[in-house]
Amino acid sequence: MKLLKLTVSSTLLMCFLFACGGKKEEKKESFSYEKKEVKSEIASNPNDVVITSNDAMQYNKKEIRVKAGKKVKVTLRHIGKMDKNVMGHNFVLLKQGVDLMTFGNKAATEKENGYIPSGTDDVIAYTKIIGGGETAIVEFDAPEKGTYDFLCSFPGHYALMKGKFIVE
Ligand code: CU
Repeated sequence: MKLLKLTVSSTLLMCFLFACGGKKEEKKESFSYEKKEVKSEIASNPNDVVITSNDAMQYNKKEIRVKAGKKVKVTLRHIGKMDKNVMGHNFVLLKQGVDLMTFGNKAATEKENGYIPSGTDDVIAYTKIIGGGETAIVEFDAPEKGTYDFLCSFPGHYALMKGKFIVE
């Protein structure tokens, strides 16, 4: 009899645990759903820009569009595997009127400064140089409406790694 009682109570306990576990899972699901919604809200902000770069010396974007009068956040991801000394990338936004090639050639000689000419007045914003698997973020106020050039200033990269940054 004792054994039977024990079996019954343990079965009850099992049921209880099961029910409890089920409830917990439901809660978890609704929580992650809420989280997803928040994420998509952030992604829909046009001034929250994500740009990737790779081992083939390329950005995934040739054009970036942002809204004027607001902060801009540029997240640069290096989705390759190569080291920053071999295939380093950054994101450099130039002021209007600055020649991209002239700037790129000058920057290429400034390794110790992360390929940004020291004391330069030519840039609006830039990230550090990153290698495969790394991410760099830069935040700044959107410049006035217009079209600007952006590039990677690692030596030789601006030939492929450049694009237009449009403020509207
Ligand atoms: Cu690069």
